[in-house]
Amino acid sequence: MTREPVLKVENLQTRFKSVQRGKFVHAVDDVSIELYPGEIVGLVGESGCGKSTLGRTIVGLEKATAGRVLLDGVDLSTLSGAALRSSRRALQYVFQDPYSALNDRQTVGEAIDEALLIDGVRSQSDRNRRTRELLDQVGLAEVVKDRHTRELSGGQRQRVAIARSLAVNPRVLICDEPVSALDLSIRAQVMNLFLGLQKDLGVACLFIAHDLALVRQAASRVYVMYLGKIVEHGPSQELYDHPSHPYSQMLLASAPEVDPVAERQRKAPVMVGEVPSPTSPPSGCRFRTRCPLAIDECKQQVPPAYKLSPGHSSACVFAKDLHRGKRSALIAPPEANAA
Ligand SMILES: Nc1ncnc2c1ncn2[C@@H]1O[C@H](COP(=O)(O)OP(=O)(O)OP(=O)(O)O)[C@@H](O)[C@H]1O
Ligand SMILES: [Mg+2]
Repeated sequence: MTREPVLKVENLQTRFKSVQRGKFVHAVDDVSIELYPGEIVGLVGESGCGKSTLGRTIVGLEKATAGRVLLDGVDLSTLSGAALRSSRRALQYVFQDPYSALNDRQTVGEAIDEALLIDGVRSQSDRNRRTRELLDQVGLAEVVKDRHTRELSGGQRQRVAIARSLAVNPRVLICDEPVSALDLSIRAQVMNLFLGLQKDLGVACLFIAHDLALVRQAASRVYVMYLGKIVEHGPSQELYDHPSHPYSQMLLASAPEVDPVAERQRKAPVMVGEVPSPTSPPSGCRFRTRCPLAIDECKQQVPPAYKLSPGHSSACVFAKDLHRGKRSALIAPPEANAA
């Protein structure tokens, strides 16, 4: 039996009008990704690479300028009315900031009740039962039901926000850095909650993060995004063991070591320069302006995604060499050093 993806994103493009007249911000450009039922997939990249725009476009908070989003094989752009609303509910977005996601004036019970009403649960006793169930699922005691959301800690608020998302029985959660605003001490707890939900409810989760260590622990597969494009994707372990795009290699090497001693002794170069403006992205390979391996060819054409091993591909002309360890972006070639 072949598994079908629950979410399929095909050649998605999201452009915004730029403040510079007649120009566009190329925030997401020709991105294709897939999510299978019950899978946690990481989406990583530096700030400004288009991760949130991709997530927001998938759930319909931004309008795609090209490409398609398919839920269970159905192109959302072909739906309207009740069918579209129902598909939209199946795609839920969990925001980074648990403070902005909830209405301060509501109690926890009211916040969840509202989501259940939107989902069409008519009977008050059914909604009460579901609220108890949801609070339990996100690890909150029933007593918080009568408290105002403003009285809760960050971690508790994020749990309530997750309970609200789950109230509508989603198929896919887009989790946009859902723990990065939380204290270090409670991040792990909320992360474990996500892992449990995926196991128990079979919800697929696209997990957006800067923190590669976090994604590595949680995700079975990872997409690496740079300046609007997916540059590499693959099974987590394979990608971490054999990063095969210069950007992924440098991103991994510049992630801080967990151990402070190792962090002090680290010799790996940190990422040089900044992400260029998405208003006028470099021609050809978008990473070439920061890549120690770039050659003339990289200017001329957008590199295709080279398949390296099952489910692992990288869009770099040197992908195969990088994968085999014959080349590395961390050891610059002599000509690059001389420049
Ligand atoms: N509504 C908008 N109008 C114009 N430009 C936008 C808009 N939203 C995002 N952008 C631009 O699109 C690019 C991608 O932004 P996005 O927020 O998707 O990046 P990100 O990868 O989520 O970054 P971060 O890690 O900082 O959250 C940025 O250059 C941003 O300034
Ligand atoms: Mg973002």
